[in-house]
Amino acid sequence: MTTPTLRLTDASVTTATVDALVVGTVCGEDGPQLLPGNEEVNAAFDGALIDVLKVLGAKGKADEVIKVPTRRAIGAPLLIATGLGKVNGQPSGEQVRRAAGAASRALSGTSRAITTLSRVDLVAAAEGAALGCYLFTAYRSHNGDAPLGRMDLSVPSANDRVAQRDLAKAVATAEAVATARDLVNTPPNDLYPASFADRAVSLAEAAGLHTEVLDEKDLLREGYGGILGVGGGSSRPPRLVRLHHAPATPKAKVALVGKGITFDTGGISIKPAAKMEEMTMDMAGAAAVIVTAVLASQLQLPVEVIATVPMAENMPSATAYRPGDVLTMYGGTTVEVINTDAEGRLVLADALVRAAQDNPDYLIDTATLTGAQIVALGKRTSGIMGTPDFRDRVTVISQQVGEGGWAMPLPEHLRSDLDSKLADIANVAEHRWGGMLAAGVFLSEFVRDGIPWVHLDIAGPAYNTGSPWGYTGKGGTGVPVRTLAAVLADIAERG
Ligand code: BES
Ligand code: MN
Ligand code: ZN
Repeated sequence: MTTPTLRLTDASVTTATVDALVVGTVCGEDGPQLLPGNEEVNAAFDGALIDVLKVLGAKGKADEVIKVPTRRAIGAPLLIATGLGKVNGQPSGEQVRRAAGAASRALSGTSRAITTLSRVDLVAAAEGAALGCYLFTAYRSHNGDAPLGRMDLSVPSANDRVAQRDLAKAVATAEAVATARDLVNTPPNDLYPASFADRAVSLAEAAGLHTEVLDEKDLLREGYGGILGVGGGSSRPPRLVRLHHAPATPKAKVALVGKGITFDTGGISIKPAAKMEEMTMDMAGAAAVIVTAVLASQLQLPVEVIATVPMAENMPSATAYRPGDVLTMYGGTTVEVINTDAEGRLVLADALVRAAQDNPDYLIDTATLTGAQIVALGKRTSGIMGTPDFRDRVTVISQQVGEGGWAMPLPEHLRSDLDSKLADIANVAEHRWGGMLAAGVFLSEFVRDGIPWVHLDIAGPAYNTGSPWGYTGKGGTGVPVRTLAAVLADIAERG
């Protein structure tokens, strides 16, 4: 994990002896404009900074990064103008976050920068700067480019208590996202159920959470047929990890569940070879709920959080479960396996039933569950399903934090497509249309009535297979950690 040091500063940005000064630009009516808070920078360029930027082709668009040699106009030898795009009055936090991220990616290899983006939105500038620097270098045998070492965030007063607290929260949040990215990016020969469980427990113990790990014997004794079925084909047996943040006077109890398939070959219903390596990310839901539970403890959120995390490797072998098998899930429901590649819903079913036994006020699960999510909503928009009020509340929050989810229905008529010829339910629907929704309907069968519940399908958003953009590099993105953290904060505030 690599995140830069972030510091508050109230010193002059034009005289600071740093490698670069980062300023924000926006798309105005007639060309680029400087974000408010850059008046003295513009003055140091004799009021001609926008003219200079125009000559260099600046438009102020999102993901536009323009480098200007300053020739001693200011203390830093380099000025970076990073675009936010079009703004309606105030820029959104996400516009600031992405602009800070794009600038900090462009600064890799330098040691120290300063920015005025924090004058517009300190938290967003801090999170974006930190996440844009993220690199995963654990598996390089030689040293490549180092990320930006330190970003100074310009604020009116560096001693301001509120600003200091906001920065500490932003740093903790960015570190949680970076840890989720690390877990997702760790290859499946090193991250398998037992080693994943160990990592979850070390992270949790360091933050003072209670932990519990069920191994394959415990799972058998207690009847976790979904997890054991899916994990049965691997030489690396499955686990169920439970992490508990228990504050003294909690406002509410929230259960988190995350899909932890450390590698998804598809099993006997094996996947095609092309892009199969991407299935190293099939534990992104698990990573997100683990780091969110840890973050809740670090931030001392007055909400009880219990993460229930099934971990298994979906492999084809002589011991693998088969299409045609019937599994008896935790709690007794029977499932006919039509396709062993629809494994996520099987491990989640066990975990959802277990999570409900804790009598939570809210239940949230997240999973890289269906290719159909990507077909429906693309690579950057999570599908959000569940009980309508809570679903809509979580959807609004996902948009506010810039992770951008969209509410999706759970149509009742899809349930009969899951009828099984011999068991209570089949793991795959008869028709392939609406695959994301069918998976959600399957999960809903394992959620106890009366619990406000949300399911986030993050198959696309959890893993960036395209070019870097904003504060998101290649590989694990850390979605939906910031949504989950903001939902917990919202519940702490409003119940
Ligand atoms: N892990 C996959 C879903 C996935 C696909 C995540 C692409 C990220 C990118 C999941 O286990 C899966 O294989 N789902 C099947 C379900 C089908 C067999 C009903 C799918 O979506 O094809
Ligand atoms: Mn699968
Ligand atoms: Zn999967």
